[in-house]
Amino acid sequence: CGIVGYTGFQDAYDVVINGLRRLEYRGYDSAGIVLEDTNNKLEVEKTKGKVEDLVNISSQLKGKAKIGMGHTRWATHGVPSDRNSHPHLSNNDKIAIIHNGIIENYDTIKTMLTEKGFTFKSETDTEVLVNLIQYFMDLNSETDFPTAVRFALNEVYGAYAITVMHEDYPGVLVVGRLGSPLAIGIGDKEYFIASDASPFVEFTKEAIYLEEGHMATISLENGVDIRTINDNSKIVPEIQELKLSLEQIEKGGYEHFMLKEIFEQPKSVHDTMRGRLLVDEGVIKMAGIWDHIERFKNANRIIIIACGTSWHAGLIGEYLIEEYARIPVEVEYASEFRYRNPIITDKDVVIAISQSGETADTMAALKLAKEKGAFIYGICNVVDSSIARITDAGSYTHAGPEIGVASTKAFTAQLTILTLIAFKLGKHNGNLGNADFMSLIAELDAIPKRIEDVLSSTHELVQNIAKDFVGATNFLYLGRGYNYPAALEGALKLKEISYIHAEGYPAAEMKHGPIALIDENMPIVIIAPKKGHYDKIVSNVQEIKARKGKIIAVVNRGDTQVSAMADYVIEIPETSECFSPIVASVPLQLLAYYIAVYRGANVDQPRNLAKSVTVE
Ligand code: G6P
Repeated sequence: CGIVGYTGFQDAYDVVINGLRRLEYRGYDSAGIVLEDTNNKLEVEKTKGKVEDLVNISSQLKGKAKIGMGHTRWATHGVPSDRNSHPHLSNNDKIAIIHNGIIENYDTIKTMLTEKGFTFKSETDTEVLVNLIQYFMDLNSETDFPTAVRFALNEVYGAYAITVMHEDYPGVLVVGRLGSPLAIGIGDKEYFIASDASPFVEFTKEAIYLEEGHMATISLENGVDIRTINDNSKIVPEIQELKLSLEQIEKGGYEHFMLKEIFEQPKSVHDTMRGRLLVDEGVIKMAGIWDHIERFKNANRIIIIACGTSWHAGLIGEYLIEEYARIPVEVEYASEFRYRNPIITDKDVVIAISQSGETADTMAALKLAKEKGAFIYGICNVVDSSIARITDAGSYTHAGPEIGVASTKAFTAQLTILTLIAFKLGKHNGNLGNADFMSLIAELDAIPKRIEDVLSSTHELVQNIAKDFVGATNFLYLGRGYNYPAALEGALKLKEISYIHAEGYPAAEMKHGPIALIDENMPIVIIAPKKGHYDKIVSNVQEIKARKGKIIAVVNRGDTQVSAMADYVIEIPETSECFSPIVASVPLQLLAYYIAVYRGANVDQPRNLAKSVTVE
């Protein structure tokens, strides 16, 4: 979900709506806005649907206010509906709230409030919280608005970021955070609030990232007053200089963010390596690893935790680290890890991979690992994100903001970091000899060029292939070794944005199940580069051919055997096996993208998904 708030001299409607457009990728089931007009009355509009649906019903609010806040939501409690959309008002209609996250004990509080006579219009946990704030103000007339918010927050468990306004406290925004991110932009006679800095980066480069368990009262009159939620201690904030530019978060001539991000990969992979991979000196510099090299060296094992695409990157990380550094690796879904009472000791290194750095399950799994004494390492894309902050050390992927909900450039950047880590550890612990190390890093250095090559040589071809599969209802993606997780990721991309059911499988495992599905209507994408069990894959392809499956093969240039059997051939340059998932993923991203575009799907904002899943 995304939050935007504003107080200053500009039209609050414009700032909030434009900010919501920037944050829409985070969630887009419903949207809402509340402004405080010049008569200090709260005016609310909200609707199921997207920010543009909100604009259609709310343009009368334009020019009416200098303070306000808005929300774009990914539904947790309650179906996406007008009624369940934010903002929510208290029973006396004086307090408006916007909330990201989940209040876990809302049921108990709702029962208590219902007994006191409060009524509820929606099914949301948020409406319970706003009424709890009213309850504290009603209880004692001495309790002012910020204090009531603080009291209420002390009663709730869960993860949240909130912004609240009160009709009797004109010009004041109260915000709080536990778990979900919140940034405060400091302008000249104006303040901004947002889930990330993208809504206000065009107005100011100065921001405060609210810390866990802190709240702030913001007004033009008194500035930003930050306090701890539990005991109201005053906090001196750290103001940060933002590095994000407006250009980075706009589409730059591409039809969709996803396509822009696919095409950015030569640059993003290069940026990931910049300053780290020093080929001439034969060195990989990674302070996060080097400063804690003993922890890695003495690690019993490395556990990688992640969700979604980041989990796929983790699986490839397992192949990389085990092959080159010979340290045992386990890869787990964060959501499973955290609830299965895992065995973790202080000899374990736990690596969390997360584009957003905010995924609630990954965050909780990391906290658990930390409590049990493990050394925790983060691989995040978003700088200063929650995961980046709680880890003992880490490496940013530096892929730049990723807006398309289906992850592309963040994935290849994660693979790049994992490759650097594997090579660095391998070199250090002697498992990767110098000659091999030197030739691998030289090859890695050239990977951005390989990606560029693949983009230009396969773009049109893949576009044409996609046309033939617009009506497909199923897809199978197969690969072996390093490319088995690449097959999983290829299938996930297609599922996410085209809504075609797709499954990724290890090619050899196909005969234990999926082969039953194969007939002339089943498209099968097979990743079959030269290096990496090629002969075995040839046999797998023969098995498919015998059952008349439609084969789309990703092979190396000059390939003959698999190509002869395939219905469609996508050629990529040959690399060492460990780099092939990076290169092979690019045409698979394009394939998913074009199939989705031809099906008329909303590529950047696929239904029911969200970019940043801050609820478990
Ligand atoms: C969501 C996104 C996916 C992403 C996953 C993990 O489901 O839609 O694209 O892979 O979360 O996100 P993270 O930010 O932790 O990498």
